Amino acid sequence: MKENVTIFDHPLILHKLSILRDKNTPSKDFRALVSEIATLMCYEATRDLPTEEIEIETPICKTKVKHIAGKKMAIVPILRAGLGMVEGVSALVPSARIGHIGLYRDEETLKPVEYYCKLPKDIGERDVFVVDPMLATGGSGIDAVSQIKLRNPRSIKFMCIIAAPEGIEAFTKAHPDVPVYCAALDEKLNEKGYIVPGLGDAGDRIFGTK
Ligand code: PRP
Ligand code: URA
Repeated sequence: MKENVTIFDHPLILHKLSILRDKNTPSKDFRALVSEIATLMCYEATRDLPTEEIEIETPICKTKVKHIAGKKMAIVPILRAGLGMVEGVSALVPSARIGHIGLYRDEETLKPVEYYCKLPKDIGERDVFVVDPMLATGGSGIDAVSQIKLRNPRSIKFMCIIAAPEGIEAFTKAHPDVPVYCAALDEKLNEKGYIVPGLGDAGDRIFGTK
């Protein structure tokens, strides 16, 4: 696997993903699972956050402890489906600001169409987690990260639940400096640009729109 790409193999993530993929899993459970997987992924993706030593006082004595240095983070979901991952990530980093990028894939061309972008004003001082359950052709993720890079954040990481090899190839070519975290790397894209075996349309399954 490429140097900057992490594919998780934690049994809890694999188990939750197996239920997520099942076409009989209802929206309510699907939403909860997307959120839980996002939390587990965030736990791993924050492993390299820098810490610093500070002095505190316990009820017993003074002691030196480590805490996260410079805690400024931002979570940026790609609308709509990325919204499903926000709660799960922010459960672990509750002080993170939340930006939004609205993109949808044109069904004919498969190219992303941008319709919304609102990011924290001070994003230049923040470490950004871009979240979207699916990296298919890679177009939406590539565009979202390009938009965010224009505002010069401190760093960017991209988290998706399922990636296609085509998406990983395109994304890492466009943004070799952005680490990618995924719960699964699937086989391929089908002729309609859906990930195989995948989980279907993430947005429709999260919001029950089909
Ligand atoms: C899905 C998904 C990604 C995109 C991935 O969104 O959530 O944003 O497709 O495909 P790509 O890698 O080929 O760009 P969709 O366009 O269906 O919009 P939605 O989340 O609003 O349903
Ligand atoms: N978007 C989805 O929601 N699912 C796919 O399989 C591909 C793109």
